[in-house]
Parts: sequence; C-alpha cells; structure tokens
Amino acid sequence: MQAISLPRFGGPDAFSLSEFETPAVGAGEVLVRVHATSINPLDYQVRRGDYADLVPLPAITGHDVSGVVEAVGSGVTAFKPGDAVWYTPQIFGGPGSYAEYHVASEAIVGHKPAGLTHLEAASLSLVGGTVWEALFTRAGLRLGETILVHGAAGGVGHVAVQAAKATGAFVFATASGYDADFVRSLGADVVIDYRTEDYVAIVNRETDGAGVDVILDTIGGDTLERSPHALAQLGRVVSIVDIAQPQNLIEAWGRNASYHFVFTRQNRGKLDELATLVARGQLKPHVGKVYPLAGIPDAHADLERPRNGIRGKIGIAIVDDGAAGPR
Ligand SMILES: NC(=O)c1ccc[n+]([C@@H]2O[C@H](COP(=O)([O-])OP(=O)(O)OC[C@H]3O[C@@H](n4cnc5c(N)ncnc54)[C@H](OP(=O)(O)O)[C@@H]3O)[C@@H](O)[C@H]2O)c1
Repeated sequence: MQAISLPRFGGPDAFSLSEFETPAVGAGEVLVRVHATSINPLDYQVRRGDYADLVPLPAITGHDVSGVVEAVGSGVTAFKPGDAVWYTPQIFGGPGSYAEYHVASEAIVGHKPAGLTHLEAASLSLVGGTVWEALFTRAGLRLGETILVHGAAGGVGHVAVQAAKATGAFVFATASGYDADFVRSLGADVVIDYRTEDYVAIVNRETDGAGVDVILDTIGGDTLERSPHALAQLGRVVSIVDIAQPQNLIEAWGRNASYHFVFTRQNRGKLDELATLVARGQLKPHVGKVYPLAGIPDAHADLERPRNGIRGKIGIAIVDDGAAGPR
C-alpha cells in the first residue's frame, strides 16, 4: 500500500510517499480501506517532533479514518467486509491514517453516519470526539446554559458551536473577523473578533456581569488565566491545549470554578452519539479544502500557517471519490 511516512522530524518536506506492506488484521480488529483522512494540529505537532518520545521513526501519522472494512479478525461481531466505518486511530498507539489501509480494534470503530461523505466523516471523528468529551462528558453542558467557544471557525470550534446549539445552549464564539459570518451560520449567538475585541468585556456586557457557564479553551496561552473573568459562579472551563508555562488561577477560586483538561480518548459510544446529531441535521462538518494523499505536505503547510483563511477542516481524499465523495 502507499502511505505518507515520516522518516525524520522536521517541516512539511520531511514527509515521503512510500510503499509499505498492507497491515495484517488480528483478533478483534478490522482492516479498513481508508477513503479519507484529515489534518489536525496534532499531526504537525507530531511531525515537528513535539512528541518525539512517543513516536518511533519511521512513523505513519494521521488521526482520522473514514473508509470501508476490507477484512475482519476473529471475534469481531460489530462489523463485516463492505461496512462503511469512521474512527480516530489509537493516538501514539501505532500507525496512523495517512495510508491506503489501516487496522484498528473494533472497540474504537463506528459505523459511518450515512448522511456524510467519507471526506466529511474523516473531518469529524477526532474533532467531534474531542468536543463530545469536552462539552458533555466533562463539562456536563446542560439545556439552556451559556458557553463561550474559542477558535470557533477551526476544526474543533466549528463542531463545538453546533453541538452546543444542539443542546439549546446560548453560544458566544471567538474567531477572526473574516470568519464571523461562517461562525454565525453554525448557530453562534454572539461572535467576537478575537483580533480587535475583548471577549471578557463582551461576555460580561451581554450577560449583565453574570458570565458564562462553560468555556471551551482551544487556544491555550492566557486563555486559562483570563477565563474566570468571563465565567459564572460554579462555571466550568475545559482546555484541550497543553501549556508548558505555569498559570495563575487565583481568580478561579472566587468563581468556585472547575477546570477540566482533555486529551481525547477513543470509543465507539461517542461516535454513535455524534452520528445521532448528524442524522438529526444538527451537526455537519465543514471541509474547507481537500488534497490528495500526496498533497499532505501542502496540507500541513496550510494548517500551520496563521490566518490560513480555511474554515473548518482540511480533508485528504485517499480514494478519489469525486469532489463530494461517496455516501
Ligand atoms: N486535547 C485534545 O484532545 C485535542 C483535540 C483536538 C485539538 N486539540 C488542540 O486544539 C487546538 C485547536 O485545534 P483545531 O483543530 O480547532 O485547530 P485549527 O483548525 O487550526 O483552528 C484553530 C482556530 O483558532 C483560531 N484562533 C487562533 N488564535 C485565536 C485566538 N487567540 N482566539 C480565538 N481564535 C483563535 C484560528 O483562526 P485564524 O486562523 O483566523 O487565526 C482558527 O480558526 C490545537 O492546539 C489542537 O492541538 C486538542
């Protein structure tokens, strides 16, 4: 099979398109013909060596799969050859999805939502799974609460806005001004231009000083320190960005705040829950740009670039199913 592999850590030019043995399927596993994958910031963090201790070289990276089951190992009951599936491979637990074939434990694989193309499904598995864990498993977002979603035009943020609206939440969202209309189209109630406006001032003005119940931090930096200033009493902050420097959280005490740190975990259950939102028409991933497998270096350069102007996700079409891809 063909795969984009990483023989060394470095820039996008570190990748090479190479031939590999098609992986063998073991007990409890499925072998999947990968139709599409997508690019996440984790991918370029791995590529440049941020997780060098966890990634033996040469490596095949990539954290989203949508494809079709080619073969199943002994004991597999939930899937059969020909089934369309989607999932996030075990992170740091083996080869990733920048390849024509991938093997995974059936426990982390879901049946692909029928209403999504492979490109769309591959653009939702990791970011959707992260949002599910952040908003519902961890923050416990409830009907009618208020939430502030940072980075709302990006991969995680554009799914978070839709998932929050599906629960009936009132959504504040930060984004670049040029993405404001896109973020509003996802359902955000108040869109804040992070480059020119102060989200703390706007949240406090719009909530009469009460603050929001939940904040989703997709940015890092000073977002954790500033969050309590926009947070309601007993509010919850969920951060998905690891930050090396110490943070001063003294303001969080005054708000009786809870902080959650999420590194997304894989399981079929949350894929099935996301599929329910898709089927109800409450969630649809936006694929802002598409590359072929050989275009992964260019896709990395696009995602890493600040102000890349690409909304939602960058998808990779491994099987050329046409512009929209198969259902
Ligand atoms: N812990 C986990 O399990 C997990 C899972 C998924 C992602 N993540 C992390 O979450 C972060 C976001 O991932 P992603 O896939 O959403 O990335 P992405 O697709 O690159 O989106 C990032 C978005 O944030 C916007 N942005 C940049 N600085 C901002 C600021 N100060 N305030 C508000 N918005 C800002 C960008 O807009 P402009 O381009 O216009 O600046 C862009 O739209 C990454 O660090 C990623 O590694 C963690």
